[in-house]
Amino acid sequence: MYVEASAPGKMILFGEHSVVYGKPAVVLAIDRRAKVYAEKRTDKKVFIDADNLGFSGYFEGDEYHAVRGKAWRGRNLAALNVSARKTMEYLGVEGGVNLKVRSMIPIAVGLGSSAAICVTTVSAVERLFDAGLKNEEISKLAFEGETIIHGKPSGVDNNVSTYGGVLSYDKENGIKRHKLEKNIPFIIGNTKKKRSTKKMVENVAALRERNPVEMEKILNSMGLIAESGLDALMKANINRIGDLMDLNHGLLSAIGVSTMKLEILCHTSRNNGALGAKLTGAGGGGCMIALAEEPDIPNIERAIRRRKSESYRVSLTDKGVESKWVEEAYADS
Ligand code: PMV
Repeated sequence: MYVEASAPGKMILFGEHSVVYGKPAVVLAIDRRAKVYAEKRTDKKVFIDADNLGFSGYFEGDEYHAVRGKAWRGRNLAALNVSARKTMEYLGVEGGVNLKVRSMIPIAVGLGSSAAICVTTVSAVERLFDAGLKNEEISKLAFEGETIIHGKPSGVDNNVSTYGGVLSYDKENGIKRHKLEKNIPFIIGNTKKKRSTKKMVENVAALRERNPVEMEKILNSMGLIAESGLDALMKANINRIGDLMDLNHGLLSAIGVSTMKLEILCHTSRNNGALGAKLTGAGGGGCMIALAEEPDIPNIERAIRRRKSESYRVSLTDKGVESKWVEEAYADS
C-alpha cells in the first residue's frame, strides 16, 4: 500500500516584487497538481524517484547518492528529503520512506512547483504514520523544506498549496484566505525559460537603491493595484481585473523584470482578445497569464503556442492538499 498525496501549484495575480517591499500580493491556487506516492522503508533512507524528470537517488541523512542522473540533482531533491525528515522528526518517529514524485507543475517558472512538492511530501509522510496533522502543521513543515530551495520564501506558496483557493499576503498582516464565489479561467503562457527569483529580486533592489524616490511611487502604485485587484476578483469583475493586470504588467516592465518573450506573449494575448495580460512571478523568463472570455481562450492559446511557448488553460481551485491510501503507485496517472 502507498499513500498518494497531491497539492496544487499557484500563480501570482497581483503584487510580485512589490510584496517584497511590504505591499499586498494576491495569489491563486491552480488546478495543476504535484503528486507524491509514499511507502515506508525498513531502513532510514529517504529514496526519491523523480524518474519522469530523469533522476532518482536516495539520501542518507543529508548526503545524496544518485541512482539515475547526475549527483548535483540532489540539490533539487534536498527539499523533499528535508520535508520528509522534518515531518518524521516532528512526529517523533524514526524511519525511512520511498517517495515517487510526479508533477504537472512546470519547474522554476513561477508556478509554485517546489512548494507544492514539499507540501505533498509532508502530507504523504504524515499520513503514512497515521498522524492526522492539521493543515497548519503541514504548511509549516513544508515551509522548512522550501527554505532549502528559496532561502527566504514569503510563506505564500506553501500556504496556497496547502489550503488552495485565493490568498492575499502582506508582510505586516501575513496571510488572509478569501472565498471566491465564481471560478475564473486563466491562460498561462510559459516561455520555458527558467530563471532565478533571487536574482530578479536583487536586480529590483539595486534599481531601487539607485532611484529611491521614483521606485517608491511605482511600488506604491503596484500595492494599490493589488488592493483594487483583490476587490475586483471578489466581485468577479473580469473587465476590471483585466485592466489591472495590464497596469500591473506595465509597472513590472518599468522595473525591468519583463523580457522580450514575455512582452510578445502579453501583446499577442491582448491582440487575440485577452481582457488583460501580465507576467506572473519573478519575471526574467517563466510565465505570463492572460484573462479572457470563453470564446477567445482557444485563439489566445494557439497564439501563445505559435510563439514557441507552452500554453495551459487553468482553473482556480479550492482543493488544497489531499492524501489517501492506494493499492499501487500511479494507478490513475
Ligand atoms: O516566481 P516566484 O513564484 O518565485 O515568485 C516570486 C515573487 C517575488 O515577489 C518576486 C519574490 C517574493 O519572494 O515574493
